[in-house]
Amino acid sequence: VRFVHDTIDDQVRELISSRDPGHPRRHGELDRLVADHIGGNPLAGWGTWIYLPWSARLVHILPRDEYRELRSDRNRHKITLGEQERLRRFRIGVIGLSVGNMAAVTLALEGIGGFFRLADFDRLSLSNLNRLRAGAHQIGIDKTVLAAREMLEIDPYLDIEVCPRGLQPDNIDAFLTEGGALHLVIEECDDLYVKLAVRERARALGIPVVMDTSDRGLLDIERFDLEPERPLFHGLIGDMAADRLRGLKTDEKIPYVLAIVDQRQVSTRMAASLVEVKQTISTWPQLASNVALGGAVTADIVRRILLDEHRESGRYYLDPEAIVAAGKGLYTHPVAPVGLDGVSPEALAPPALPREPLPGAPLDEQAIRWLVAMGTLAPSAHNAQPWRFRFHDGRLECWHDPQRDLPNLDFEGGATALAFGALCETVEIAARHIGWSATTLAYPSPGTPALVASIGFDPRPPTTDVLFPLIDKRVTNRRFGSGEPLEASVVRALEVAAASGQCRLQLKSGPASLGEIAALVGAGDRICILNSAIHHDAMHGYRWSRESVEALRDGLDVNVMEMSRSDLAGLSVISQWRVAEFLGQLGGGRALETLGAKTIASASAVGLLSIQGTDRTAYFAAGRAVQRLWLTATSRGVALHPMTGLPYLFARLERGGGEGLAPHERRELTSLRERYRRLFETSSDWGETFLFRLSIADQPRARSLRRKLDDVLTID
Ligand SMILES: Cc1cc2nc3c(=O)[nH]c(=O)nc-3n(C[C@H](O)[C@H](O)[C@H](O)COP(=O)(O)O)c2cc1C
Repeated sequence: VRFVHDTIDDQVRELISSRDPGHPRRHGELDRLVADHIGGNPLAGWGTWIYLPWSARLVHILPRDEYRELRSDRNRHKITLGEQERLRRFRIGVIGLSVGNMAAVTLALEGIGGFFRLADFDRLSLSNLNRLRAGAHQIGIDKTVLAAREMLEIDPYLDIEVCPRGLQPDNIDAFLTEGGALHLVIEECDDLYVKLAVRERARALGIPVVMDTSDRGLLDIERFDLEPERPLFHGLIGDMAADRLRGLKTDEKIPYVLAIVDQRQVSTRMAASLVEVKQTISTWPQLASNVALGGAVTADIVRRILLDEHRESGRYYLDPEAIVAAGKGLYTHPVAPVGLDGVSPEALAPPALPREPLPGAPLDEQAIRWLVAMGTLAPSAHNAQPWRFRFHDGRLECWHDPQRDLPNLDFEGGATALAFGALCETVEIAARHIGWSATTLAYPSPGTPALVASIGFDPRPPTTDVLFPLIDKRVTNRRFGSGEPLEASVVRALEVAAASGQCRLQLKSGPASLGEIAALVGAGDRICILNSAIHHDAMHGYRWSRESVEALRDGLDVNVMEMSRSDLAGLSVISQWRVAEFLGQLGGGRALETLGAKTIASASAVGLLSIQGTDRTAYFAAGRAVQRLWLTATSRGVALHPMTGLPYLFARLERGGGEGLAPHERRELTSLRERYRRLFETSSDWGETFLFRLSIADQPRARSLRRKLDDVLTID
């Protein structure tokens, strides 16, 4: 022993920290955890002492499973824990340890394969050092031995067999089958006979073969495991057999080599070099960059084959010269940063409204346009604005536009009905202000459910509701709050507003209640994002550019979300379903809970507005109360932020039999519901229409636009 390397203490510490990455440990705490981990035994006896005779090193490492867990920690979740465990069970053969060295070492690095058999008759020479990562002191060593040493230094627990006399007719079968058939072979040798003979036997045994040729990133996959009749080399050499090849002279073999590599596809420099072999150069050229690329590409495809993610045979070119080439690049001309093209000026200004009619003015086109513009300032879930209007025979008809629905998010259209209720309440307040008494009939025609409301108008002396001046000031304010409690007078005013619409308001405050609501809402947010249908509804409505905000004038401009740059970046990542789906498969997504939870923790209170009845008429009536309550909060300088995901999930669970939810989502929601019931009084015949937080907060940076009047209103 010339060197002793004992870093077991650091390794155990890193292992413990890696198992709980969300909780950085303080030093003393980590000491205790290390002691617990090794069960009070001396550290010197923990794990394994490995002796590396070629370098006379004695190295102290973690026990096998811990060593592998920590060594592969940074693979996750590109490779999941379960996949890592599966990958370690595979037996892999590598033939030709010059180019194959890079593939074999990359496999060992990536944790692909637990058993390796390496075959090459050759020894390292100085002229190999242009592409093989070794040193001059290693010249003369068997290439199989060199690869095995390198792999064992990475993972001393690997099981590696070397075959330093290379493959011959008498040992090919043993190479492929001894101790159990190999699961895959990487073939990187120069000998045409071996290439064919190995393939013939691999085909008979159903073993897939992968080959990388260090020119133009050429990769060949032959799935003999799935295609037992497949011709060798994709059929490029016809029915040539290994045995017949043995009798051929070198120049007679050349046409087969050229057929395999397909001479029309060979790079120009390689083709010209081939002509010069034995003239000005001794053999064909191979570059370190080509070999390194080959190792990477081979390891990637081997992983995907073994994990059953790729099932096809075929030839591929991953040619850097063709891929990284003039005219092929993105952003060859600089662009502006994505999503930072600024907030629409309209979103920064008070809403632009038609001129307000004078009190007592006739109900002409100008008055109707103003009333509808005021009405549509009402809130709607995701700013979907699920409405259109027709003024006809002195009545304002409010129609539901089902194309704007969020059917997976909004259980049975409750949120839509609520938005219409808020809208009609607003129209009534505005009408009184200009001398008209408006009377709303909700769902006046049972056979026409799309006609949500019909509003009639009678002249009356103008009266201004205290809430009128707040209509164009009300906004959803998603800013963090200061956490200070609400004044008692504010609470009373909100309760009065709720009661005026026959609604019940339950307000919760204090760290314990808010902490529990934060946890519940966070879990609800996660369930919504990880459910494909709800994800679609939720993400579809985000507007990421100023152009789309101004063109569509609906949905949620990301600028109104009041998110930090990093939370917005997170939203942009998770808005892609493929990402959310994979996160769900991993059992991950806890991070999706934090934003909602953080905002609730900053609130003064959280409110639940319920109403007797669960049908759309009840939700419509609740919408009126919501609007009065929201305007009241606005009048008192209190910010309101609806957080309705959870109650609508509960409605889907209980009234909708959990339709659209996976069994595990139902199970989790059922237990969340239990906890929720400990906070809020609920009853099956009361609709829990609106959950929201109230905060003392600054004004929001931007507001949501509304569609143009001409797009929603017709006047007959
Ligand atoms: C029934 C209903 C449910 C809502 N749910 C949420 C919610 O869960 N989260 C949220 O941030 N905003 C929610 N909102 C607020 C809307 O997104 C908002 O009203 C809409 O974007 C228009 O913006 P404004 O309220 O600022 O005018 C909801 C609004 C309504 C009417």
